[in-house]
Amino acid sequence: MANKQVEPSLFIIFGGTGDLSRRKLLPAIGRLAASLSLSDNLHVLGIARDTRQDDASFRDLAMESMIASGLRADEIAGFCNRRFHYQTIGNGAPSDYTQLRARLELLEQQHGLPANRTFYLAIPTASLGDTLSGLASAGMNQSSGWVRIVIEKPFGYDRASAGELVGLIRKYFAEDQVYRIDHYLGKETVQNLLVFRFGNPIFESLWNRDHIDSVQISVSEELGVGTRAGYYDKAGALRDMVQNHLTQLLTLLAMEVPPVIGADSVRYEKIKVLRSMAPILPGDVTFGQYSKGAIRGQPVPGYLEEIGVGASSTTETFAALKVEIMNWRWQGVPFYLRTGKRMPRQLTRIGVQFRNAPVCMFDVDGVCAVKPNTLLLTLQPDEGFSLHIGVKKPGSPSDVKQIPLSFKYRDIFDDIPEAYQTLVLDVLKGDQTLFVHSDEVLEAWNLYDPLLRWKYKVYPYAAGTRGPAEADRLAISEKELFENF
Ligand SMILES: NC(=O)c1ccc[n+]([C@@H]2O[C@H](COP(=O)([O-])OP(=O)(O)OC[C@H]3O[C@@H](n4cnc5c(N)ncnc54)[C@H](OP(=O)(O)O)[C@@H]3O)[C@@H](O)[C@H]2O)c1
Repeated sequence: MANKQVEPSLFIIFGGTGDLSRRKLLPAIGRLAASLSLSDNLHVLGIARDTRQDDASFRDLAMESMIASGLRADEIAGFCNRRFHYQTIGNGAPSDYTQLRARLELLEQQHGLPANRTFYLAIPTASLGDTLSGLASAGMNQSSGWVRIVIEKPFGYDRASAGELVGLIRKYFAEDQVYRIDHYLGKETVQNLLVFRFGNPIFESLWNRDHIDSVQISVSEELGVGTRAGYYDKAGALRDMVQNHLTQLLTLLAMEVPPVIGADSVRYEKIKVLRSMAPILPGDVTFGQYSKGAIRGQPVPGYLEEIGVGASSTTETFAALKVEIMNWRWQGVPFYLRTGKRMPRQLTRIGVQFRNAPVCMFDVDGVCAVKPNTLLLTLQPDEGFSLHIGVKKPGSPSDVKQIPLSFKYRDIFDDIPEAYQTLVLDVLKGDQTLFVHSDEVLEAWNLYDPLLRWKYKVYPYAAGTRGPAEADRLAISEKELFENF
């Protein structure tokens, strides 16, 4: 987050022709170029095994991807034509990596670049090991400039495989070279959590067990498993969402105030939260799987009817958990984590419920009219927040109505950068604040790994509902907080 400069460099995308590259990375680079956030001298080298691609076809692919994302051809044509290149890695033999190194050196020489290199690994996890060792064996894990490596999730399948992956990366790269992407951290509204907490002292002074009753982090997806069944059926909601995205949000919400906003101090505070988590108890978890139903009035199939899903799959598409942080700030405050596919609509929202008044001073016919104050932070869509406070209902001496004091990003700001745009720029600046440290990955797995071995019941819920009724106890008050769902 510090305001570092973007230096001239080579941005090398392993998997440059793949889905992630086309949908997210190349458009992010295009937008950065169009907004003049890039160095005058950044060159992009796409890499894949495909031997039919060349510089020209990769430039076309980059242009297409950028235009499909909403950029205009005239904004990016010059950039793509001059700065995009392609190299095949063949079948990954040592000679392929030697040739790659020669190509990097040639590009640097031709364009007067220092040997500053980012290797973005947008390739299947199974290929990571060979690629990392290939790069290292050809001496590309170091250079006379800087070398950075970007790793995409999943960061392991369980604690053991995550440990192996961390060990593999550490064998060749130092932690300060490694940028693990959790794209949630690149979202403007997620970064705003830091500003919200540490730029507004009124909230920070209330941000503890004395004033907060409970916290809920909900990530609801309208979509089903789509074309990702092959991956998702082996992963499920716990691995796909909870272990990474929801837990990252939890650490940002719960961490202590760092001395400065910088990679070392922010990540250190997040790791401390993870080390303070109490073990999760079986009674504090409910899993669910969607059956057929309707979303926005349209019928949709159940999970077991989706293409690529086994007929007797017990993979969870919904998870609700209660977790607790055993430290002085949070002891006794439940944090509810909830996520599911085929919910009524897409919504990522954090609810913070403050403690209610110790004595009720206003009632209607003997029923207390005072409700606890709640703060809703909406991360997507319609980003913003609302603080719900009680006001006197006109005409009644003691009735209290909850009204929101609210703010919406779109009402104030025109342009909210995409997560990948922010993250790519941070990689180029060498700022690791929004990237996940290996200790965070391992600590998060320490928390969730035991759940992977439980024989848990997976409750059905109809698509278009908010999950199984059995999970209702694992929420502040799903109905009240998500009334406008
Ligand atoms: N797609 C997403 O939205 C998304 C989101 C989050 C994380 N990810 C992660 O990002 C990675 C890539 O996902 P993807 O969806 O883009 O996969 P994909 O569409 O299958 O693309 C894979 C790319 O990697 C290339 N490739 C495969 N093996 C390679 C190797 N050994 N060396 C160099 N290039 C190789 C492929 O081209 P060739 O076949 O020609 O080699 C292709 O360009 C995965 O780890 C995935 O988990 C993806």
